[in-house]
Amino acid sequence: MRVVVTGVNGQLGYDVVKELRKQGDEVIGLTRETLDLTEEDQVTKTIREIKPEAVIHCAAYTAVDLAEEEKDKALNVNTLATSYLAKVCAEIQAKMIYISTDYVFPGEGDKPYEVKDKVDPINWYGQTKYEGEQAVLRELNHYFIVRVTWVFGKNGNNFVKTMLRLSQERESLSVVADQIGSPTYTVDLAKCLAEIVKTDKYGIYHVTNEGFCSWYDFAMEIFRMSGRNVVVHPLTSEQFPSKAKRPKNCRLSKQKLTEEGFERLPSWQDALARYLEELKQ
Ligand SMILES: NC(=O)c1ccc[n+]([C@@H]2O[C@H](COP(=O)([O-])OP(=O)(O)OC[C@H]3O[C@@H](n4cnc5c(N)ncnc54)[C@H](OP(=O)(O)O)[C@@H]3O)[C@@H](O)[C@H]2O)c1
Repeated sequence: MRVVVTGVNGQLGYDVVKELRKQGDEVIGLTRETLDLTEEDQVTKTIREIKPEAVIHCAAYTAVDLAEEEKDKALNVNTLATSYLAKVCAEIQAKMIYISTDYVFPGEGDKPYEVKDKVDPINWYGQTKYEGEQAVLRELNHYFIVRVTWVFGKNGNNFVKTMLRLSQERESLSVVADQIGSPTYTVDLAKCLAEIVKTDKYGIYHVTNEGFCSWYDFAMEIFRMSGRNVVVHPLTSEQFPSKAKRPKNCRLSKQKLTEEGFERLPSWQDALARYLEELKQ
């Protein structure tokens, strides 16, 4: 399959390219340097020329706190650039996968969100990603919207890398213990996306590694698996204020994946163990 992947210098895009190439697909990876996705004319021209069968759109403005200040920047990338891609995909009849987020939900209660649950973005980043979803729904019939959470991969910064770094600098740390979600490994996510894109089972999906934990539990497991001796104190969200509001409930239900016959991802602990091995290489 001939596939364009955006954001290949980021965590997810990097592993999506790797996985598709492993499967023998023809992949054209786009970076900000090769194509600024906020330039509509350039986006249209480039995608028309490449004429892919599918576009996997991993690029995004992902600085969640900064987005509260740089509102237009976040909107330009997450909403407008997504709409440019969706429009040209419709024109050339390419499928599109748009990667979205649990931040489109308000993050309340303790039930995992189903794909059809009411959306009410918790912060500006979530709002811009939600409007990106709306653009995809408006422009395309052949779309997949894939909401993900708590992503970690080799090619970029993430919670695991931050914890490993801090464990070298400090003897004790405080980590939020009342926000619950699913850490998700880009390698596992990429495999699932590579499978989904080859089908015509269009629609909205939630894809994460299996199991739920708090950031505190996640940190404890990172230190246990990597043999780091750090004391970790649990914090409440109120004790750890941030510019952008964070959801306490980031649980996503993967029911739709099962219903459509896709394999669920391994547990987050299994993913973390493989990731720590990958980081050693
Ligand atoms: N990370 C998470 O925990 C998380 C959680 C939920 C959902 N998601 C979603 O998952 C997807 C992948 O996230 P990620 O962690 O892999 O993101 P990432 O590492 O921040 O990578 C995003 C990439 O997008 C590129 N980009 C930004 N603006 C661009 C523009 N105007 N033109 C072209 N490229 C542009 C960036 O390029 P530069 O390197 O040049 O800046 C970067 O390489 C995103 O859609 C994100 O919203 C992530």
